[in-house]
Amino acid sequence: MDAKTHWEKIYTSKAPEAVSWYRPHLETSLALIERAATGYSASIIDVGGGESTLADDLLARGYEDITVLDVSQTAIDVTKKRLGLAAEQVHWLVADVTDAQLDQGAYAVWHDRAVFHFLTASEHRAAYVRQVGHAVKPGGHVIISTFGPEGPTKCSGLDVVRYDAESLHEQSGVRFRLVKSSKELHRTPFGITQQFLFCYCKVE
Ligand SMILES: C[S@@+](CC[C@H](N)C(=O)[O-])C[C@H]1O[C@@H](n2cnc3c(N)ncnc32)[C@H](O)[C@@H]1O
Repeated sequence: MDAKTHWEKIYTSKAPEAVSWYRPHLETSLALIERAATGYSASIIDVGGGESTLADDLLARGYEDITVLDVSQTAIDVTKKRLGLAAEQVHWLVADVTDAQLDQGAYAVWHDRAVFHFLTASEHRAAYVRQVGHAVKPGGHVIISTFGPEGPTKCSGLDVVRYDAESLHEQSGVRFRLVKSSKELHRTPFGITQQFLFCYCKVE
């Protein structure tokens, strides 16, 4: 089953609050984005944003240039509907991040929570890293969160690759300077604890 088919099946059968990765607010992501963005006009892309409330919270804080990309049209539609009129202030892209058409140097901040870890094939990881290098402007920031070394081996029924800061940073190459990393224990809506890793890099 390809990524799109899998994620459409998930989002057409589960409520937004009933998926393991759900949090009412992505606090760690928000704090890192606020650190990375130089002002409210900074261009921010949330890769694999799904049905998360990150776009809502960024809009509420005053950010003006937000893009949400996801392979699932259903997830994008649910998020747009929740936002109502405010959805018109967001750019929406339904695409697979590994082959999406993104403009060169379009983004100052790239955010991904729980997407990169699904790329278990080296060619898909290489395509993702090429996209980051192409779409993030020099001096921009990349925030990627995956399951940590003690995190689960599967997410949403799919195999994942778990990373520590070093192994995740190794994937990205020399143009990405690791500024900060941290681990977070995420409590799923079903009461299970999952270890996440956050890496915050600057693109030289
Ligand atoms: C585990 S969910 C995380 C959603 C959101 N980032 C959050 O933290 O709540 C993974 C998301 O990535 C999307 N996704 C998975 N593979 C993708 C790909 N290759 N390209 C774009 N989106 C993808 C899925 O549709 C899903 O919304």
